[in-house]
Amino acid sequence: MNFSKLLSFVVTSLIVAPSLGATITDASQVASKTFDYVIVGGGTAGLVVASRLTENPNVSVLVLEAGISDEGIFQIQVPFLGPTVLPNTPLDWNYTIVPQAGMNGRTFAYPRGKLLGGSSSANYLFHQYGTDEDWNRLGSVSGDAGWSWSNMKKYVQKHEKFTPPVDGHNTTGQFIPKLHGFNGLTSVSLPGASTPLDPRVINATQTSSEYPFNQDMSGGDHSLLGIGWLQSSAGGGVRSSSSTSYLAPANSRPNLTVLVNATVMKLIQTGTKNGVPSFKSVQFGSSPGTGSTPGGGAPTTVSAKKEVILSAGSVGTTQILQLSGIGNQRDLQAVKIKTIVNSPKVGYNLGDHTLLPNLYNVQPGSSFDDFLRDPNQINDAVNQWVTTKTGRLANNVVNNFGFARLPRNATIFKKNKDPAPGPKSPHWEVIFGNFWFNPGIPQPSTGDFLVVVSVLLNPTSRGTIKLKSNNPFDKPLIDPNYLTTDLDIFTMRESVKSINRFLAEPTLSNYVVSRFGDNFVSADDDSSIDAYVRSLTTTIFHPVGTASISSKNSNNGVVNPDLTVKGADGLRVIDASVFPFVPSSHTQGPVYLLAERASDIIKAAKY
Ligand SMILES: Cc1cc2nc3c(=O)[nH]c(=O)nc-3n(C[C@H](O)[C@H](O)[C@H](O)COP(=O)(O)OP(=O)(O)OC[C@H]3O[C@@H](n4cnc5c(N)ncnc54)[C@H](O)[C@@H]3O)c2cc1C
Ligand SMILES: *[C@@H]1O[C@H](CO)[C@@H](O)[C@H](O)[C@H]1NC(C)=O
Ligand SMILES: *[C@@H]1O[C@H](CO)[C@@H](O)[C@H](O)[C@H]1NC(C)=O
Ligand SMILES: *[C@@H]1O[C@H](CO)[C@@H](O)[C@H](O)[C@H]1NC(C)=O
Ligand SMILES: *[C@@H]1O[C@H](CO)[C@@H](O)[C@H](O)[C@H]1NC(C)=O
Ligand SMILES: *[C@@H]1O[C@H](CO)[C@@H](O)[C@H](O)[C@H]1NC(C)=O
Ligand SMILES: *[C@@H]1O[C@H](CO)[C@@H](O)[C@H](O)[C@H]1NC(C)=O
Ligand SMILES: *[C@@H]1O[C@H](CO)[C@@H](O)[C@H](O)[C@H]1NC(C)=O
Repeated sequence: MNFSKLLSFVVTSLIVAPSLGATITDASQVASKTFDYVIVGGGTAGLVVASRLTENPNVSVLVLEAGISDEGIFQIQVPFLGPTVLPNTPLDWNYTIVPQAGMNGRTFAYPRGKLLGGSSSANYLFHQYGTDEDWNRLGSVSGDAGWSWSNMKKYVQKHEKFTPPVDGHNTTGQFIPKLHGFNGLTSVSLPGASTPLDPRVINATQTSSEYPFNQDMSGGDHSLLGIGWLQSSAGGGVRSSSSTSYLAPANSRPNLTVLVNATVMKLIQTGTKNGVPSFKSVQFGSSPGTGSTPGGGAPTTVSAKKEVILSAGSVGTTQILQLSGIGNQRDLQAVKIKTIVNSPKVGYNLGDHTLLPNLYNVQPGSSFDDFLRDPNQINDAVNQWVTTKTGRLANNVVNNFGFARLPRNATIFKKNKDPAPGPKSPHWEVIFGNFWFNPGIPQPSTGDFLVVVSVLLNPTSRGTIKLKSNNPFDKPLIDPNYLTTDLDIFTMRESVKSINRFLAEPTLSNYVVSRFGDNFVSADDDSSIDAYVRSLTTTIFHPVGTASISSKNSNNGVVNPDLTVKGADGLRVIDASVFPFVPSSHTQGPVYLLAERASDIIKAAKY
């Protein structure tokens, strides 16, 4: 998909000047001040916690966000432009992963949102909660039943505001109302613009034994298996992020201060309590290009009376822990950082979902490819969005997706245990796009395409995030170590075969003309499918695990079940990095639920 061309067209026509509201940009307004809580990172989780804690007017909170405000930025508001926000834009951290042994030594972009709302302001808006089995496994490995689904499901009601689709179509049969919240904060909606691909896919579910129709794709105690209608974090044709849904209603509270352009460099030890070091001060500098540091000038320090909360995401939180001397002693020594808390698992256990864009040539005339090539059609769609918040751009880029499992008798299970958290949780995901989508490779100038993305869920490969140096402005070394187990490559291979079987259903076989791309065309036996998978797979941006939860007395993790950092005082981690396993779905929903419960845990804490 030629998203970069689309983006430059749209941006030159319509960028809106940021207006910061109550969010502040001047570090001197907070210098040397003390707050009850200092939250590092105004992203998905950080803004949930900031919003919930300041419901009590007696509690003061400072949020430090390295990126800019999200207000008034056109392309993050428009659902269809989701894929244009990152990578390698001013809203991205611009990370690149190290060469991947399981991917022919390839390296590629590893985007993370760098603005208020974090990755929820920059993602593709798919919205789900993982399976009940994902949460029950977390409850069991943490020894805290509070993380089990029977307790977590109430947070769906607090979080979610299910909203009618913008085209006003009858949604009966496309979701199950009792699984949803209608009075929460974040808008979630079904597709608001149909595509010619939708009836083909939905029809095929009526004859497919592998992908039956699933009436609700949100997860929880309703199975994810099968294919159904996508639910997106949007309402009224506009993206709903943690900034628009949790910060916006809280930003005028006198005891909430949000500072943007503030890059946290490290935490500072402030003493000891019960024999362990306290980390209640935070040192930050202005983000590159926005002030006197890091080009020069002294960093600013602020302190927390109660706690510092790290919500800088799987990459940022890992990096800040390590820069603060909380990490694996050997790794810290290698970059000349004095270890204060030897926490061997910081930066380890990195898990992520992979993305393989299986591309097909299709019958001409009903893909989006010509739309994406035509400035006049795009211009009309932009005008429609601006005037009525409807039309193609008010909708996500995808309407249908689904999930599947390996059969119980799959040969791989002779030597490997099932990696899924239970028999209802999927091993892979399939996503149907009515257009050319191939990250990093531009849309060809002619042709109509179908993309069926396969995503490896419940991966068994694990990687690392380590510092490159002790300079907080250096990018860390990110090594997801993708596709390095037999099980992971087996599952990707079976997902490709399974998609080809699904495309043989009548309403799809009369649409698809041929596979696209030399490696795919020749991918007919196991070894050539593996070669194809290794040549094209990238990431679907769901890193977790680098500050994993483990049970209270276990050293096989970084945080306790209440998310306090093991071996430290006054410090918690609340973001995707604490999940020891990647949930069997897209990850923003699980992060929202995690942050809702974490807020309740903090409200109940005694200091
Ligand atoms: C391109 C992309 C597409 C995605 N698509 C989907 C999707 O469709 N559906 C879905 O469910 N999930 C999706 N995800 C994943 C999902 O968005 C993330 O799992 C989730 O948002 C992570 O939340 P978080 O709070 O852990 O981190 P984030 O939301 O990333 O927040 C971290 C925040 O901390 C800030 N920060 C980092 N370091 C520092 C520092 N040193 N000082 C100050 N601030 C700092 C960052 O700028 C950021 O604002 C996608 C992710 C990406 C990147
Ligand atoms: C806030 O503090 C005041 C004065 O101590 C107290 O009366 C009030 O109950 C507190 N409010 C909350 C919500 O805790
Ligand atoms: C909250 O804000 C009010 C009004 O600005 C102020 O009087 C009060 O001291 C603040 N409370 C805390 C805990 O900061
Ligand atoms: C990422 O790259 C873009 C485009 O080159 C640039 O504008 C932006 O400043 C970069 N961001 C960071 C954090 O380096
Ligand atoms: C929506 O469709 C269902 C089932 O087809 C029907 O029972 C219901 O009356 C419709 N609702 C509206 C508002 O038309
Ligand atoms: C499925 O396809 C058949 C035959 O093409 C068509 O008659 C029917 O309307 C389709 N059903 C749906 C739900 O699109
Ligand atoms: C914050 O960063 C943005 C984008 O880089 C910049 O436009 C703005 O001027 C910065 N604000 C301050 C106070 O430095
Ligand atoms: C698994 O079982 C199915 C159904 O009984 C059978 O068709 C298939 O061949 C079996 N596969 C293997 C690998 O044994």
